[in-house]
Amino acid sequence: MEFLFKNAVEIAKKICLMKVEEGDIIVDATMGNGNDTAFLCSLVGETGKVYAFDVQETALNNTRKCLLEAQYQQRAQLILDGHENMDRYVTAKVKLILFNLGYLPKGNHAITTKKETTLKAVEKSLDALEESGVLLLVLYPGHLSGREEKEALEYFTSNLNQKRYTVTKHSFLNQINNPPELICIEKNR
Ligand SMILES: C[S@@+](CC[C@H](N)C(=O)[O-])C[C@H]1O[C@@H](n2cnc3c(N)ncnc32)[C@H](O)[C@@H]1O
Repeated sequence: MEFLFKNAVEIAKKICLMKVEEGDIIVDATMGNGNDTAFLCSLVGETGKVYAFDVQETALNNTRKCLLEAQYQQRAQLILDGHENMDRYVTAKVKLILFNLGYLPKGNHAITTKKETTLKAVEKSLDALEESGVLLLVLYPGHLSGREEKEALEYFTSNLNQKRYTVTKHSFLNQINNPPELICIEKNR
């Protein structure tokens, strides 16, 4: 039996499935091993485009491999730079931006997203979103810097103008060890 709300990443993917259409331009703000990038490439089709960011060369190599296997290499632009610089690369308005925060599970845990740069990137993302576009933030409060990042993002997003943005949070109330959570921001028309 498939769970409706298995975990924060799966909820984020369900929202992507509801929102993204063939031909859309979207951003994967943290490409990691490329699983999310490949999934997003499958949604935008041959006529869409995914901009994917990471600060680790390993992430780009792994993602390139992942996209080659699925034959999606034409659908994505892989960028070796922090998402806080996304405005240097993404000039068009985009339908959806996904941040799957934290560190690579089998990688160097010291290379993790940090609240200062994430906040900068989220501000730029709000500008880059088209009307009724969606910003998804998967948070990992199970480690210290992830907890600080979550608190900073909750504070920032709960102060967004409600006429302009609808902000929701999805958390797992009866699970132990601070499981991942999801913040979803929809830009109102
Ligand atoms: C949880 S992993 C992403 C998982 C990935 N989406 C996947 O499908 O495998 C988080 C990634 O964020 C990256 N990262 C850390 N700081 C970043 C930054 N400032 N800009 C972009 N990526 C960053 C890390 O290098 C790491 O690969």
